[in-house]
Amino acid sequence: MSKIVSFVGGVQGPWKVVRIENVVGKPLEPVEKIQIVDGSIEIPSFNTNWILRGVTSNLRYTTSQEKEHLNKHSPTLGRKEDTCAALIPIKKSVEWWELAQDERREILEEQSQHIKLGLRYLPAIARRLHHSRDLGEPFDFVTWFEYSPDYSREFEELVSSLRTTLEWKYVEREVDIRLVLD
Ligand code: HEM
Repeated sequence: MSKIVSFVGGVQGPWKVVRIENVVGKPLEPVEKIQIVDGSIEIPSFNTNWILRGVTSNLRYTTSQEKEHLNKHSPTLGRKEDTCAALIPIKKSVEWWELAQDERREILEEQSQHIKLGLRYLPAIARRLHHSRDLGEPFDFVTWFEYSPDYSREFEELVSSLRTTLEWKYVEREVDIRLVLD
């Protein structure tokens, strides 16, 4: 079942921001803490700089074989050793969204091997993908990852590899926020 999640950037929450890198496109205002709230909340009060919303959804590009592999090896969020996290909101270009589904799969997987590469990092990295485009949000996706400090290097390696792919040529806005449990 899909659910809406709000990532609230401000001065409250269990996740402390250790780094914000504006990778491409318009920057996001720096914040101290992130709180993850189930449901869609409006800017509540005082001390909230921004809220990024997204909804968990069905898979678009994954084959049955890939899905089986994902289901078998994907860990749940909230493992106690996973004290590091990454919040990476991403917006893709108009050119991407004008492609047909089969053309997007061709770029994402056949040419960029996003899924094949990502699967190598399971179960070390726990992840959840949120779709934001149809909510009228500033980003198309809000991606969330959790991992233990022992896998920080591997996570950097994965992110760097993805950024060299053809798929990433269609990324026009990306902010990389790294966090630790406070
Ligand atoms: C989409 C797996 C890491 C960003 C996907 C999809 C899969 C996947 C299976 C396709 C979902 C579908 O069929 O709709 C993985 C795995 C990873 C990983 C196993 C290992 C940890 C990452 C990282 C980033 C990222 C590090 C960001 C830097 C995205 C985005 C999409 C996506 C933005 C949506 C693409 C679109 O629909 O256009 N990922 N991924 N992924 N992933 Fe990853």
